[in-house]
Amino acid sequence: MKFFVDTADTAEIADLAETGLLDGVTTNPSLVMKAGRDFKEVVTEICGLVEGPVSAEVVALDHDGMMREAETLRRIADNVCIKVPLTIDGLKSCKKLTEDGTMVNVTLCFSANQALLAAKAGATFVSPFVGRHDDNGFDGMKLIDDIRLIYDNYAYDTQILVASIRHPIHLLESARIGADVATMPPSVIRGLFKHVLTDQGIAAFLKDWEATGQSIG
Ligand code: G3P
Repeated sequence: MKFFVDTADTAEIADLAETGLLDGVTTNPSLVMKAGRDFKEVVTEICGLVEGPVSAEVVALDHDGMMREAETLRRIADNVCIKVPLTIDGLKSCKKLTEDGTMVNVTLCFSANQALLAAKAGATFVSPFVGRHDDNGFDGMKLIDDIRLIYDNYAYDTQILVASIRHPIHLLESARIGADVATMPPSVIRGLFKHVLTDQGIAAFLKDWEATGQSIG
């Protein structure tokens, strides 16, 4: 399973990349606003920090505008993945861009039928938002389950990129279902390492080690 980090904070990305666990990065206009930096500059920097796909989202709503913005963004680096919304114009753009060999992440997916459309448009990734789905009284994990089933039924190559992950259980369930990618905020990735018994075990081992009076060198 691939792990992407969902942030435009380059210090966080650089730090997490050192773990060797990071396969890519996703950003969106809200994360860029939070970073408070120039969009193209920040995407350029992120593309240098990771080898995998870096999703950069267009903001135009019409096909021509999306294609213009995509052209600017894909010139930044080979690992830029153009993020388009799940709309008719977004999917027209997806089809054109993927036919040209550009990676495309179709975002704001909230139904299995929408995910089917994204796959038919040739999307590299589809991003179902599980957290926002749950927030609105739907079952985010059921959505992932349905998309996995449909994609497997027809052997679609589009990768299921679980987005809007809020906690480790979302990741666990996504992995059980067989989602291809999980994009997580840095706090969730850091949380995956934690276990109270790991902390207690380290403390107990260190206490006993001190009692031996030895040093490893
Ligand atoms: O990048 C899209 C996504 O992961 C958004 O997450 O927490 O804003 O619903 P959230």
